Amino acid sequence: MCGIIGYWNKELEAFPILLESLKKLEYRGYDSFGFATSFENKLLTERQVGKVSSAKCPILPGKIGIGHTRWATHGKVTEKNTHPHRDCSGKIAVVHNGIIENFQELKNSLLNKNHNFLSETDTEVISHLIEEKLEQGMNLKDAVIEIGSLLKGRNSFVVLNSETKEIIAFRKGSPLIVGITKENGTSEVFIASDIQAFLDKTKKVMYLDDNQIVIIKENPEFYNVKTKDKIEKRLIKIALDTKDAEKGDYSHYMLKEIMEQKETLAKAINQNDKDLMHVSQEINNARGVFFVGCGTAARVCHTAEYIFSKIADKHVNFIPASEFENYKHFLLPETLVIAVSQSGETADVLEALEIAKQRGSKIISIINTQSSSIDKISDYTFLIKAGPEKAVASTKATTSQIVVLILLAYACAGKLKEGERFLIDVAGKVNDMLNPRYEEHIKKLAEIIYQRENIFIIGRGINYPMALESAIKIMEVSYIHAQGFAGGELKHGPIALIEKATPVIVLVANDDVRQEIISNAIEVKSRGAYVIGVSPENNPIFDYWIKTPDVNGEASSIINLVAVQLLAYYLGILRGHDVDYPRSLAKSVTVK
Ligand code: AGP
Repeated sequence: MCGIIGYWNKELEAFPILLESLKKLEYRGYDSFGFATSFENKLLTERQVGKVSSAKCPILPGKIGIGHTRWATHGKVTEKNTHPHRDCSGKIAVVHNGIIENFQELKNSLLNKNHNFLSETDTEVISHLIEEKLEQGMNLKDAVIEIGSLLKGRNSFVVLNSETKEIIAFRKGSPLIVGITKENGTSEVFIASDIQAFLDKTKKVMYLDDNQIVIIKENPEFYNVKTKDKIEKRLIKIALDTKDAEKGDYSHYMLKEIMEQKETLAKAINQNDKDLMHVSQEINNARGVFFVGCGTAARVCHTAEYIFSKIADKHVNFIPASEFENYKHFLLPETLVIAVSQSGETADVLEALEIAKQRGSKIISIINTQSSSIDKISDYTFLIKAGPEKAVASTKATTSQIVVLILLAYACAGKLKEGERFLIDVAGKVNDMLNPRYEEHIKKLAEIIYQRENIFIIGRGINYPMALESAIKIMEVSYIHAQGFAGGELKHGPIALIEKATPVIVLVANDDVRQEIISNAIEVKSRGAYVIGVSPENNPIFDYWIKTPDVNGEASSIINLVAVQLLAYYLGILRGHDVDYPRSLAKSVTVK
């Protein structure tokens, strides 16, 4: 949530580089954006409401600078609330990611000292607090350490002092990564929320960890905030490819990422058997297994209850990460907490894992982003290897996470090889399914229903959490009110909402609840619903049939979801929305 970039060099103009880098962070928030550079020891700034990718900006001169793309928390979406935020002297600029929980108290004390606030944001207190410290004669490094430690909550920020030409970053909570390039005698140093910001320039990185600062200069210097000791960091060469994060011939990342499921499922299956067996033993021996995640990843965690019950005869629990604290008294050193996350940076998940750590429980994660905060806090990580997921709506990461859950469940049941063979077959079927004719058939359905105000989705068994996930997908990109229900729950209330022609998507699999979900479809049909069957077989009850490959058991969740992802995409397109960047959302939710 919120993208941060900082850039230092001695020869090149910083602004064009900052602009291109910030565009690559747009997925982290796109309410407004801004830049600050130091030119002739003066601070220059440019801030605008809207998306950085579609903006026209005057070029700011200067060789060093910072930039920010905002997902609004404190203060409306206005130019004055856009980062960078300045101090009263006009030489300090700050970009920030997080929520300063004690900002009101800090702001009140600054107001008492006659500081002039220009925004409604919490961020602006950082600029004025640093100004105070500099006026007291402190250097910027010590000021950043002191102020960073004063802020309550998860806060990472970068400070530019235009007068001394210093850039210093502080990290607690959300990620900041340093990138370094030295070519033909020119050194360039980046600091960003995500490697993607500078991946086309360098693959050599150093990770800033929590409670550390870094001085951005030719040879960046890292310090521990608590001890103030200098820290030596290794320069790591990462293996990511910029091509993976580009749209290529696709009009949208979302469509590209849906289509990539032709390959990503097979990559997710390709885990180390020894690791799977080791973790499955941990699961089998644990006193309580809790899956935690947020949003779509939480729906994946919900499928774990069905997957482990059906495949491994094992009871596991699912808790939305934001509710995890309420369950902390169940956590023992023998308890296992399994986090599911695409970004590896979701604040609620991290908080849940910190609680688990305090209670001595073991942490396993199923994530897409190596070296992310969740990776670092985990005792064991499974990477789903889906490649960068840029569209805010998660698609390929979701199905790959389900693949890893199914593998683990088979491993727990002592049938790992059988599980792998089964999933390879499923991956092949998804490959066949995602063809142009199939896409066209789903697009036609979207044309029939895109003007409806409500869509309901029903499923039973593992297709119940998938009905909930289908609703998330449809809502976030089409803004149509969509709700998922367990088929059996309909007649306990929601059926009152079914009117003539209300679309109801029925997720069907050839499993032991097939007949019951068809009965639920008949119930809504008799109230006038337009019944859309996502099913391996046609049924006279369906007004529109989306044929799915017939797969056994729990993998129907993957197949049915892929079909609904495509439908959600076309609903969003037909309603004229920016499907990659839906309103009010952000890809990486690094605030609570
Ligand atoms: C997915 O479509 C959503 N954008 C959202 O619910 C997302 O799944 C959630 O924020 C969790 O993100 P994570 O997987 O990166 O932890």
